[in-house]
Amino acid sequence: MTKNLLFQDPAAFATPLLAVFAVDIATGKDEAPSPALLSTSDTLANAAAPWLGSGEFKAALGETLLLHYPANAKAERLLVIGLGKAKTFSVHDVRKGAGVAVRFAKPRGIFELAIAFPEDKALADEHLETLPCHRTTRALAEGALLADFDIDIYRSDRKDQAIQAVTVIAHEGDKKTQREIQQGFDEGVVLGEAQNFARSLVNEPGNVLTPTELGKRTKAMCESFGIACDVHSIDKILELKMGALAAVTQGSSEPPALIVMRYEPAVAPPEGSPVLALVGKGITFDTGGISIKPADNMDKMKYDMAGAAAMIGAMQAIAQLKPNVRVMSIVCSCENMPDGKAFKPGDVITAMSGKTIEIMNTDAEGRLVLADGLHYAKTLGATHLINAATLTGAIGVALGLLNAGLFSNDDETTQSFLNGYAVAGEKFWRMPCTEDYREQIKSQIADIMNTGGSRYGGAITAAMFLKEFAEETPWIHLDIAGTAWIDDNKPWQSRGPSGVGVRSITEWVRSYAG
Ligand code: BES
Ligand code: ZN
Ligand code: ZN
Repeated sequence: MTKNLLFQDPAAFATPLLAVFAVDIATGKDEAPSPALLSTSDTLANAAAPWLGSGEFKAALGETLLLHYPANAKAERLLVIGLGKAKTFSVHDVRKGAGVAVRFAKPRGIFELAIAFPEDKALADEHLETLPCHRTTRALAEGALLADFDIDIYRSDRKDQAIQAVTVIAHEGDKKTQREIQQGFDEGVVLGEAQNFARSLVNEPGNVLTPTELGKRTKAMCESFGIACDVHSIDKILELKMGALAAVTQGSSEPPALIVMRYEPAVAPPEGSPVLALVGKGITFDTGGISIKPADNMDKMKYDMAGAAAMIGAMQAIAQLKPNVRVMSIVCSCENMPDGKAFKPGDVITAMSGKTIEIMNTDAEGRLVLADGLHYAKTLGATHLINAATLTGAIGVALGLLNAGLFSNDDETTQSFLNGYAVAGEKFWRMPCTEDYREQIKSQIADIMNTGGSRYGGAITAAMFLKEFAEETPWIHLDIAGTAWIDDNKPWQSRGPSGVGVRSITEWVRSYAG
């Protein structure tokens, strides 16, 4: 896809489809909706005026109104897209709005389009919900790219369905504003592409994306963006005494992969600066192992490497945005299979840290591979840990499918992460992870066991298990099992892998760059 940013009058741009945003400026509870165009172009305002006033369009978020041959504009079609109430809309709605434009065009065979920058200047002050222009263009670029992603790459009848060109058109302003708009746009392209790369990995079936293949694709990405990457085999895993990762992989005939990526800033940060570690759960297929899962929905367990994909996507973005902070990423990748050689309930294994673990359920494998990943990161010098994982079904029960779970042993680190919402727009909700829950993972015969015994608080006991390996190092655990895969199409987004985490994790990393 070609991505362009132009500074000119959007009405003078020739394109098959020009998208322009509108908000509802009605405020009173019983007041009829009153759509207003977020554009200072008189041509566009005049072309849309009769239809905006007709009552057929209310400017609700994602609502569309299509006009053919808008009077005096060069575009063949004008697509008005609602962003909701003027008082409450935000850049996160702009991201969705840009996505609506793309997903409106695609099924209609329109593969080139332009999107007019939403100009809040068009509104009277009392309606104003100001949009910082840097974040706005960033959201436009992200939204357009994310919306172009589809899960149909294996469908022969869906070839050549990708958008070829998107042009964002902003009005000519002063140089400083133009620079901010350009910067936001460039960042948005980086983040949108990184998130789509993560989604493309998650979308792959388990027979294609084996741990070996995940290693290859990660290495290829790292090479093209200039960061270091090592893909280690079982020999290194055994040499490091990663007994937990080794136990999970032993039932599979696919070799595991321990992927280590490193980003070094151009100018070395001073001694004692933070070293961040991004640790990902990369189970390329989770059958549950000997504690096998039911057949229903087991096909979806190809997405059990979405945590790894989020970290790989974030590393792609970091390699391009070049924050001044050291970052490493550790991906522990293998399959979880039942087999004559598989690990079993009742087994006691020794993790890399030396802690012994009683296996209560082989389906609680994610926390095992992460235990070794987190510990390994610390031995490599990590001062701050973050991990992402499709760890528990219980997180979806606790939070629904909108917020992902955040667990941490440190308030300050948590706050740095949650501050990223203003830019990244991904929803995370902090869950308890206090010592009083530790009781539930105590084992009779080993240091800890790999499940909480009861199904109550399943996402929390999983987090407590990880905390045993983060120990005193500031650490965040993101449980994305409920949010990494979306079952239904949205007007701005395809069903399938969401790529959740890429934007927030990247923003968290940038918060340490000073
Ligand atoms: N990969 C699953 C978690 C999962 C469930 C991800 C649903 C996405 C959707 C994980 O390995 C698992 O099986 N967890 C068990 C833990 C239990 C055995 C304590 C679970 O959630 O049931
Ligand atoms: Zn499992
Ligand atoms: Zn799993």
